[in-house]
Amino acid sequence: MPPASKSFQAWIDRLPKWHGWLQLSPERPYAHAEAEYDNQYGVTAGEPEEGQGLCALLKTHEINTTGPALEIGCGTGRLTFGLAKHYPGRDFLISDPSQIFLRLTQSQFGSGAGFPPRLHYAVLNADDLDQLPPDMFSLIAMRSTLHHILGVDAFIAACARTLRSGGALIMGAEPCESGYILMAVAAQAIAPVLHAAGVELLPEWQKQLNVFAETVKFYCRRDLDKSAAEDKHLFRVHELSDLGYEYGLHLRYFPNATFSDYAPPYLPAFENFSVFFLNYLKYCMMFDEKFLKLIKRHLKPQFKYINDCYCRHVGPAITGVFLLKKTTARTK
Ligand SMILES: C[S@@+](CC[C@H](N)C(=O)[O-])C[C@H]1O[C@@H](n2cnc3c(N)ncnc32)[C@H](O)[C@@H]1O
Repeated sequence: MPPASKSFQAWIDRLPKWHGWLQLSPERPYAHAEAEYDNQYGVTAGEPEEGQGLCALLKTHEINTTGPALEIGCGTGRLTFGLAKHYPGRDFLISDPSQIFLRLTQSQFGSGAGFPPRLHYAVLNADDLDQLPPDMFSLIAMRSTLHHILGVDAFIAACARTLRSGGALIMGAEPCESGYILMAVAAQAIAPVLHAAGVELLPEWQKQLNVFAETVKFYCRRDLDKSAAEDKHLFRVHELSDLGYEYGLHLRYFPNATFSDYAPPYLPAFENFSVFFLNYLKYCMMFDEKFLKLIKRHLKPQFKYINDCYCRHVGPAITGVFLLKKTTARTK
């Protein structure tokens, strides 16, 4: 068998190119302005903690890193930068369906010199993964991307096929069904609680609440055509575990963990339910500051109840890191 780097090189040499990138799928823009992405979430891509933490997990869980790594849905490169600095294998294929995101990420790396792996870029939609060669990648890494992929079953099957034995699919910042429903139910209490306190809801606040309730319901439902939606799903840990098992992937789930928790200074980003909830309303649902302050003040008893339930263990499970290690060659 040729060494990993040779078979990977031979494969990418045969792929078509588009704007200087490898092309595995047609380009598809993101549903929101790519250039505004980091501003909306209040983050700076190009900080290494996320990728550094992910690489620490590779060591702890003895993942085979002899082959190339693939990142799917790189966005502005929040996970990419640290992976490029810390992935010990020789090649790293960075991908996204959006050319603007690919360009934004690529701009972090200049010529790519000084990063241990060789960096490659591809336009790739995860619904097209069955083109990837079998037993090629040691790592498939994603952050906040699984819930955008239409066919999750087919995606997991395709990852299992293209992973090497001992390799892993590692995903962070994915939404868990029960935690999101709990957030939506907590949000149902906002209008009556504020009303009882004599606070009148502005029409735009009521609209924000309605959008949030409908959004969570849309993510949760499984009887709708989600092909045209950007964000699509919520996940249940036992279902991902069963799905992985069918394809020879063994799941470890780390509730509410982020990749950066595993990098110095090793501080868990998740504090408690109410902090996560208020941040979610702020950054993902764009609630305004004044409304958030009122929610924080008047829903103290509801927040205290949930936070007290989890005063000594992590929860409720709202998000987390999912590590699926290929332990056997089994494929369904
Ligand atoms: C919420 S953003 C996350 C971006 C980045 N990983 C981060 O953590 O900041 C979701 C990313 O998934 C990409 N994406 C959406 N649908 C996809 C699909 N079907 N296949 C691959 N990537 C997809 C988007 O273009 C976007 O970059």
